[in-house]
Amino acid sequence: MKFFIDTANLDHILEARELGILDGVTTNPSLMAKEGISGKQQIYTHYKKICDLVEGDVSAEVISTEFEGMVKEGRELAEIAPNIVVKVPMIKDGIKAIVEFNKLNIKTNCTLVFSAGQAILAAKAGATYLSPFIGRIDDTNWDGIQLISEIYEVYSVQGYETEILAASIRNSRQIVESAKAGADIVTCPLSAILGLLKHPLTDIGLQIFLDDHKKASAKLTGQ
Ligand code: G3P
Repeated sequence: MKFFIDTANLDHILEARELGILDGVTTNPSLMAKEGISGKQQIYTHYKKICDLVEGDVSAEVISTEFEGMVKEGRELAEIAPNIVVKVPMIKDGIKAIVEFNKLNIKTNCTLVFSAGQAILAAKAGATYLSPFIGRIDDTNWDGIQLISEIYEVYSVQGYETEILAASIRNSRQIVESAKAGADIVTCPLSAILGLLKHPLTDIGLQIFLDDHKKASAKLTGQ
């Protein structure tokens, strides 16, 4: 399973990259706004900075909601760097745009996916990635991980090549559950990635090892 970081924060991207396990980045208009990035020039410059930081794919979302605008915007985004993936919302014109981007050899990430039916449509259109929002489904008292399992089953039975990118992940447990359910990729905030490191027995065990080593060394030197 690949790890993407879901942020537009350059420091967080750098920290995840330094871990050596980062495969890509996803962003959305809300994440860009959170970093205070606005206006076409500033947004495109920021995408370029992110693309220069990572070798893997970087999802950049279109703002247009009709076909012509999405295609124009997607083509411009794809010009920024070779690792740009155009993120397209799961709406009627979005599906048409994904078909068009396929013809243009531009990778796509179909976003705002909340059902297996939507997942089938995106795969038929030829989306590179599919982003089911598991956290937001859980927020509504439904089961986000169950959706990942259902999409995994459909894609396996049908042999669809679209990769399942579990999105809207808020904690480390959802990463583990997504892995079990068959997600190809998880995209998550830095906190959820770093949360995977945490176990109190690891910290306690390490302290014991270090203390024992110190004691044995002190004995050896007679101190
Ligand atoms: O990748 C989609 C993600 O950014 C949405 O996350 O936490 O806003 O539901 P969230």
